[in-house]
Amino acid sequence: MARGDLSGKILKLFREQPAGFVSGALLSRELGVTRAAIWKQVERLRQRGYQIEAVSSKGYQLLETPDLFVADELAADLGNTRIGRQLVCFEDTDSTNVQARRLAEDGCADGTVVIADRQTAGRGRLGRGWVSPAGVNFYGSIVLRPPIPAVEASQLTFLSAVATREAIAACGALLPTMKWPNDILLLGRKVAGLLNELDAETERVNFVILGIGVNLNMTADQFPADLRYPATSVLLETGTPVLRLTFARRLLQRLDHWYQHYLQDGFEPVLRAWEEGCDLVGSEVEVDCRGILRRGTVTGLDSDGALLLRTAASPRERILAGDVRRLS
Ligand code: BTN
Repeated sequence: MARGDLSGKILKLFREQPAGFVSGALLSRELGVTRAAIWKQVERLRQRGYQIEAVSSKGYQLLETPDLFVADELAADLGNTRIGRQLVCFEDTDSTNVQARRLAEDGCADGTVVIADRQTAGRGRLGRGWVSPAGVNFYGSIVLRPPIPAVEASQLTFLSAVATREAIAACGALLPTMKWPNDILLLGRKVAGLLNELDAETERVNFVILGIGVNLNMTADQFPADLRYPATSVLLETGTPVLRLTFARRLLQRLDHWYQHYLQDGFEPVLRAWEEGCDLVGSEVEVDCRGILRRGTVTGLDSDGALLLRTAASPRERILAGDVRRLS
């Protein structure tokens, strides 16, 4: 079910009166529905954890807000950002990437964001799943329509990594590192994954979907036993729970910052930020390229996002896909 409908509008009006009551008459006038309909929505909001006081002569007052993704709540403070100017929040959905693709195919605007509280068919890389329980993490997908050729689309993976790293860093004292190409790690364990999907013609990008999953408040028992990599959450590493709404706002702001920068100045600044946050540059690694192993020293990223290695055979070997393991 999508959020951000009548209940979202009611919350928006509450927020515009943070220190006082909003009368039922005003709500019903502003939203064009009966006072009984307002009452019904207020009851629904209470069931979702919003504490709303009702006083017959004064109206309603919002006392406490639960940590849920509601489009209008999230839009507050985003300002004039391109990312998030259209926002869709789901209580649950199959996969935010699937929903974002649907919106993109219907022509949604550049910067449209889809967020879910829970995914029933969360997707990971290489056909794997992404465990997506309710109420604890961030699952979101952003539709971008940059005026770039299809061969440059992979640059956006690094843009989303840099923005996600900064949003996680702002949660606490720990600075995450980035593992080429799609993972974000806290103390060597995977805390976030990126799944970017491209729709393009030969010459140009139609749209790119940046899928971002961040383990925020997940506890050890919520991780499946058979994960390929050691995984963690911000809560497990810092001991402090993260307010998901605040995290989502911050992430969208960082994405907006980097996207505007990218559109104006190209890939170079993103590449520099990525290399700064990737602790692999200068290290000896082994890369498993679908069963073929490559060994070398990481020297950086190429302009299309390929990993650059200095190997025994070549001073500049380009790796387009593979799993990296550090040797030194
Ligand atoms: C990975 O395998 O590391 C990538 C995981 C990406 C998960 C996110 S959660 C939001 C978005 N919707 C999905 O179905 N997948 C991505």
